[in-house]
Amino acid sequence: MGELLVALDVESGARARQLATELRDVVGGVKIGSRLFTLEGPALVQALAADGIKVFLDLKFHDIPNTVAQAVESAVQTGAWMVNVHASGGVPMMQAAARAAAETADKLGRPRPLVIAVTVLTSTDADTLQQVGVSRTLMDQVVTLADMARTAGLDGVVASPLETAAIRSRCGPDFLVVTPGIRGASAGAEKNDQHRTMGPAEAVRAGSSYSVVGRPIIAASDPRAAAEAIGRELTATAGA
Ligand code: C5P
Repeated sequence: MGELLVALDVESGARARQLATELRDVVGGVKIGSRLFTLEGPALVQALAADGIKVFLDLKFHDIPNTVAQAVESAVQTGAWMVNVHASGGVPMMQAAARAAAETADKLGRPRPLVIAVTVLTSTDADTLQQVGVSRTLMDQVVTLADMARTAGLDGVVASPLETAAIRSRCGPDFLVVTPGIRGASAGAEKNDQHRTMGPAEAVRAGSSYSVVGRPIIAASDPRAAAEAIGRELTATAGA
């Protein structure tokens, strides 16, 4: 519980590799999103994975089940340790993703990547949810989608730390909850554009399995010291 993943939201593959190397023994893994992946392609993921670095490939697949299965198959070939899809794609789409991850990993003789789902993006508010035709409350929608992900056989979800306790209580202790939006205490007071935040210790207490932290580490004058401080807070709380 409470492992730290650093979001490599940087402008180039060279900077991403430099940071990943500098931080490799103080973080549990790195997250690569669509910006860096679109720029650098699978070679970056392959290079980091070949160096033994755990890569969460955050591409949030959302398409028809067959296409998502093929995308997951490609993601497994990069050596990614964790991949994700949108839970709102539905149970058959998530089942196709889980099956593709297991079958491809089996075929390649490598460990199956964790497959998790995005529930409701933290940029979505109650009005947006209503505009897209969802009448449930935001929290209800998040927990419903998390439960669908669990039913489909996925390993967990990405969610705001404020939703973590509700997901944990519906989906049980083994379901992974990966939380961005970590601010405060060792993660610093600067919120950037994050609104619904929690400190590292609070997130672990709420039941977070992995905390994803970007700017408080990558924009720090000493990224390694920043990651160490956050890691210490996570570990101390998880062990408490
Ligand atoms: O810099 P910061 O710590 O805010 O980075 C958080 C990372 O988590 C970013 O890569 C952001 O895109 C991602 N993320 C998020 N909120 C979500 C899903 C992903 O902040 N709901």
